[in-house]
Amino acid sequence: MASSESKPYEGKWTALTVRKTFLDYFAERGHTIVPSSSVVPHNDPTLLFTNAGMNQFKPIFLGTVNKADKLASLKRAVDTQKCIRAGGKHNDLDDVGKDSYHHTFFEMLGNWSFGDYFKKEAISMTWELLTKVYGLDPQRLYVTYFEGNPAMGLEPDLEAKELWTSVGVPEDHILSGNMKDNFWEMGDQGPCGPCSEVHYDKVGGRNAAHLVNMDDPLVVEIWNNVFIQFDRQQDKSLKSLPSKHVDTGMGYERLVSALQDKQSNYATDVFTPLFARIQEVTGARLYTDKYGKDDVDGIDTAYRVVADHIRLLTFSMADGAVPNNEGRGYVVRRVLRRGSRYARKYFNAEIGSFFSKILPALVEQMGEQFPEIVKKQKDIAEILDEEEEAFAKTLDRGEKQFEKFVAELNKKGEKKLSGLQVWRLYDTYGFPEDLTKLMSEERGLEPTDESDISKAREEAREASKQVKDKAQSFPKLNVHQIAELENQYKISRPDSEPKYGKGDITASVQLIFTGEDFIKSSKDVPAETPLGLILDRTNFYAESGGQVADTGRILVDDDVAEFKVEDVQEYGGYIVHIGYFSHGSLSSGDKVICEYDELRRQPIRNNHTGTHILNHSLREVLGDDVNQKGSLVDEDKLRFDFSHKTGVTHDELRKIEDLSNAYIKQNAQIFYKDVDLDSAKQIEGVRAVFGETYPNPVRVVSVGIDVDMLLENPKNPEWRKVSVEFCGGTHVDQTGIIKDMVIVEENGIAKGIRRIVAFTGDSAHEVQRMAKEFNNRLQELEKLPFGAEKEEQVKRTGVELGQLTISVLEKEELRQSFAKIQKSVVDEQKKRQKAESKTALDTVTGHFAKAENKESNVFVGQLPIGANMKAISDVMTHFKSKDKTKSVYVFGGSKDTGVVHGVYVGTELASRGITAEKWSLTVAEVIGGKAGGKEPTRQGAGTQPEKLDEAVKTAEKWLADEMAKLKV
Ligand code: ALA
Repeated sequence: MASSESKPYEGKWTALTVRKTFLDYFAERGHTIVPSSSVVPHNDPTLLFTNAGMNQFKPIFLGTVNKADKLASLKRAVDTQKCIRAGGKHNDLDDVGKDSYHHTFFEMLGNWSFGDYFKKEAISMTWELLTKVYGLDPQRLYVTYFEGNPAMGLEPDLEAKELWTSVGVPEDHILSGNMKDNFWEMGDQGPCGPCSEVHYDKVGGRNAAHLVNMDDPLVVEIWNNVFIQFDRQQDKSLKSLPSKHVDTGMGYERLVSALQDKQSNYATDVFTPLFARIQEVTGARLYTDKYGKDDVDGIDTAYRVVADHIRLLTFSMADGAVPNNEGRGYVVRRVLRRGSRYARKYFNAEIGSFFSKILPALVEQMGEQFPEIVKKQKDIAEILDEEEEAFAKTLDRGEKQFEKFVAELNKKGEKKLSGLQVWRLYDTYGFPEDLTKLMSEERGLEPTDESDISKAREEAREASKQVKDKAQSFPKLNVHQIAELENQYKISRPDSEPKYGKGDITASVQLIFTGEDFIKSSKDVPAETPLGLILDRTNFYAESGGQVADTGRILVDDDVAEFKVEDVQEYGGYIVHIGYFSHGSLSSGDKVICEYDELRRQPIRNNHTGTHILNHSLREVLGDDVNQKGSLVDEDKLRFDFSHKTGVTHDELRKIEDLSNAYIKQNAQIFYKDVDLDSAKQIEGVRAVFGETYPNPVRVVSVGIDVDMLLENPKNPEWRKVSVEFCGGTHVDQTGIIKDMVIVEENGIAKGIRRIVAFTGDSAHEVQRMAKEFNNRLQELEKLPFGAEKEEQVKRTGVELGQLTISVLEKEELRQSFAKIQKSVVDEQKKRQKAESKTALDTVTGHFAKAENKESNVFVGQLPIGANMKAISDVMTHFKSKDKTKSVYVFGGSKDTGVVHGVYVGTELASRGITAEKWSLTVAEVIGGKAGGKEPTRQGAGTQPEKLDEAVKTAEKWLADEMAKLKV
């Protein structure tokens, strides 16, 4: 493979044409083009990412699809599905970069038959498309079929074999395969069936049958046709599905590479535009498509990794994934960190805004097919930068630490990092375990045992859990201790100005507070004991003004010492970092690195500036009686208590939210300045908390106007339109960073005091997404035909809506839509009820009206109604009040829906000693349950509806017997 691989592709089968041809081919054959479903399966917590085209169709295969669902009526479909195989069960992350055909993100082209065509049509279309339309050389194609599995009672799929022969595949290109390769299952349970794969030989001019399914990069599977006919049960048995379906998946990138006659997916124009952008941004040498040892400087591998990773990052975030420390969020973070390290190490790229520079090339290339990445481009770029920036702080130091560990191993002649070392690299430097594994591999080390890593992780977690609780109740510094620091130890108050910056800082240890005394060294204190560290300067934010304290770590690199900070408090100007040593110790005078958790600080910043904006909007909308009564700003939310005499209407709330978001969208700059208290108080409209004592000078925070400008003409009435507050908190630089504010709670908490809880940034987007999804659900629910399923869904949906944390306003709208649906169901039930009552009564009165029943005084029988107790009792009431002499024993329901029954003994029978009690007892003995009521009626529901007919007969017979007895 030569460097010509990096030249732009100029042939007929561009990536775009290949995709379009696939969709068109099937559309022309009666298939509906369906959009890809989200690559983030928000509704399926068991699945990290969408990993196959069939995920979105699973309910159709199983027959559980909601009838109102858009998909329910589909017979044939075609799509290209965004897939991610990283993290979860299918994990290709470790292979990416190393070979020519693995990707963490890829497109899966698929055609689908839902109980429509089956093997014959599927196979002939597959063959026609590949050989006639795409024009692939049939001599290079190989197909497989399922060889059967007697142990599981599965026959070989000879039908598929014959079908391949019939379309013209030569005998020696048709191969049988086992369960592993030729029986596709989506998971441990669910739809499955035998499959037939198509493989392509990239070399040609030979028989490559022996290389099929052998992990040969030159003989690759391109298409899989699954014939879904079973549902794998929990007990592992296979149950036949009522209809048979076709599920196919073709690797888009692999197909493109076959059509462009490239040996590697990465040498196609799916990737070359990204490589060109990477080259432009980094100035690296051109991509040459070399692998393993041939890629001497590792740069080709880095190109592949970066190009692959930007695809995963962009598409997952566009569909709502956010980097964090759990589940899919952690996959996103890991991939970003893995990619960042490649970029830094191999391209010398500066980490902090690297991936966001590659992003435009991807958006340009794929935005037309997937408009969501165009729409979210700006947000994605911001998240990428934030994440990179946070990792940049520890990337270098972590690499150095890694090198130290390696040097130690070399000295000892060992070849494997310990579990604890791998854990430290993660815990202290944020190196995901798979990144450390990769770096170890690069250095020729053996992989660390998974169990050793989990042991270290568990031990650390256990220890921190215990000490965290203790840190919460760590003693305060009392006045005597403050005086002691000042007078006896001559410790000056720390410089805490660095908290307004973003980077790490270095500081020196002054003293260590044990909770009782001060000590100069922690040497003799066991690890995991709560302590308070006092430094000469700090960038940690100590809890104040409603803003929670920072967490983070204070450390000496080279694995010397690490102090985990759980809480930070300020007493008389002294700042105590409360936490514990995970290892090592510190003494007065030691130089340390202070590293607060920047990723946690980000949402806190959003929420704090958000609070100021909200406070301002509240006064604008509700008037001057609004005064701050309390606030809490943490990483999840902002909570704001304020005085206001009356309730807040939804209209007002909407104005408050809109005004706040308009302020955010203005992307106003935030200004700060320490100002002489008296002058600061002069600023028109400045917000301060009544009764609070402010320091002099006081820090003034203004959103949008330079503080100096405010002070030039403090009484300018225009300033009322600006958020100006006395505040020592940490804020965003520009309001745009907050992205959005959503009020999720508004209520009164005491007389004249109300509370608002709001989300900003990613959390705001998450609740917006949830609201939208719920709205879609309601729309589908509405379309569902009336019946038991709808009633059941209405009940469940109502409960879920109640529990949903979303925008107050959106919730209100959803409530209204829901109430409409609920009412329509209730109305329908009432209507049905009325209709059934009428049917019931008509049946009985109709009986008596017939000439042949003129003499009859009794009706016993089943009515053509459901298990409708109201209809039964309506019949009884009718006779009891309007036709007293006659008796009725009526039944409703069926063996599937349950059964109800009721009896009214008319005056005529009653006078002859018949009682409703005795009569109903004979019935209850047959159908179970009890019948209640007082003479002359009884009614009840049976527990054995399958005995309904028998019960009717019993009622007839009992009466006949009684009458016979009377005649004797
Ligand atoms: N569901 C099949 C696969 O993922 C097509 O291979």
